Amino acid sequence: MEVVILPDAAHIGAMAADAIEALLKRKPEAVLGLATGSSPLPIYDELARRHTEEGLDFSRASGFALDEYVGLPLGHPESYREVIRREFSDRVNIDPDKVHSPNGAAKDLEAACREYEESIAAAGGVDLQILGVGTDGHIGFNEPGSSLASRTRIKTLLEQTRKDNARFFDSIDDVPHHVVTQGLGTIMDARHVVLVATGAQKAQAVRDFVEGPVAAICAASVLQLHPHATILIDEAAASSL
Ligand code: GLP
Repeated sequence: MEVVILPDAAHIGAMAADAIEALLKRKPEAVLGLATGSSPLPIYDELARRHTEEGLDFSRASGFALDEYVGLPLGHPESYREVIRREFSDRVNIDPDKVHSPNGAAKDLEAACREYEESIAAAGGVDLQILGVGTDGHIGFNEPGSSLASRTRIKTLLEQTRKDNARFFDSIDDVPHHVVTQGLGTIMDARHVVLVATGAQKAQAVRDFVEGPVAAICAASVLQLHPHATILIDEAAASSL
């Protein structure tokens, strides 16, 4: 695990964008793993800028989202499918049909989870997975206690995560209780993982997953076992290391 402490979110976004740009130049048909939350937004801003100003080309790339709420109607502005469209896909020249999300509105969610795993495998696997981290150490929506070998499946959100994410909804009552998320085993299959975190509210989670034991109680700690994990954090998020 390589931990890089940078001055602020803009530097973090630029360094993550450098890794994605290098990948796209080496492999134009790269498969990107896309994350939501506020932490990756500076990455998408920087990729959009490089696309507009420098012609960074996504025309042959594809993408897979990490997770999705269960039960939000198709097109709901806070569904992760919509967030990724708004923050990333609409701002670069990636083919929207090649940007995939778990189907949280499927009648048969278990079948949808299996199909999602199959579609990632059929695309050749994820080349670079962007990740944020929850205050409880979750990645994707793999809450504490998630099996380190888990695959895409349905999870129940902890109350803390619903509270953390309530800012995106009118009230906490509107935050779904259930989600579909890539598992920790799915995330570990990505060839390169880039996790970004900023702010003092992430300091404990960062300390736990970087310096604590590898344990299901802190999902992100599994990244200690990843052969190519890059952790980009600011001083505040690094303050408990
Ligand atoms: C949600 C997402 C995670 C994200 C986390 C942290 O729970 N499912 O992928 O890492 O929020 O979000 P933020 O970056 O806004 O703190």
